[in-house]
Amino acid sequence: MINPYSRWLFPRLIDLAMSGDPFSQYRREVLASVSGDVLEIGFGTGLNLPYYPESVRAITTVDVNPGMSTIAQRRIQASSITVHQKVLNGESLPMPDDSFDSVVSTWTLCSIANVDQALQEMGRVLKPSGTFFFIEHGLSSDPAIQTWQHRLTPVQKLIADGCHLDRDIQQLVERHFAEATVTQVWAKDLPAIAGYFYKGAARKKVTH
Ligand SMILES: C[S@@+](CC[C@H](N)C(=O)[O-])C[C@H]1O[C@@H](n2cnc3c(N)ncnc32)[C@H](O)[C@@H]1O
Repeated sequence: MINPYSRWLFPRLIDLAMSGDPFSQYRREVLASVSGDVLEIGFGTGLNLPYYPESVRAITTVDVNPGMSTIAQRRIQASSITVHQKVLNGESLPMPDDSFDSVVSTWTLCSIANVDQALQEMGRVLKPSGTFFFIEHGLSSDPAIQTWQHRLTPVQKLIADGCHLDRDIQQLVERHFAEATVTQVWAKDLPAIAGYFYKGAARKKVTH
């Protein structure tokens, strides 16, 4: 059962906060190479839709919060992409193994409670030839900022619906995927505790 703050107010706040710069520039960069059958985890209010390449005609999306999905409707209506929208937890996906050419996550790994389980699921549904595309905020490279990220994460989790400031995204991605190429960047105009971004792509870890 989702509490009223998460269901009604938080989706509106996140929609406002994450529209426009500096996020749009990164959305465009990360989504430019997405192709084929696409799964987006943590679809939120649909802010990525305008940034998918024209060749992407349909995507499947997952988000645990029905309040996000409601707000996403107007962007889905305005988009030429067909969206198969599913309200469910990314920690347990109903799709078969090896279903998607591209799996996308933008600023979502911070918020998933059992992020290892969700990454394992994303890897499972990715085709062996597929690619995981991501842009996330996480643990800074600056130890002084890391200290504040650790201190403030309990508060951030309360006000931002489970969001952790201090996850080492590179380590998480490398634990579950192969051939990760990750760029770490400071985002302009964001507070240092939330503005350290991990942007990149990785391949399915094939186990024999
Ligand atoms: C900060 S928002 C980012 C939304 C969107 N990806 C974007 O770039 O604008 C994080 C999103 O992850 C979703 N989320 C959190 N935990 C989830 C889970 N376990 N499964 C699926 N979605 C989840 C939230 O509901 C929220 O929509």
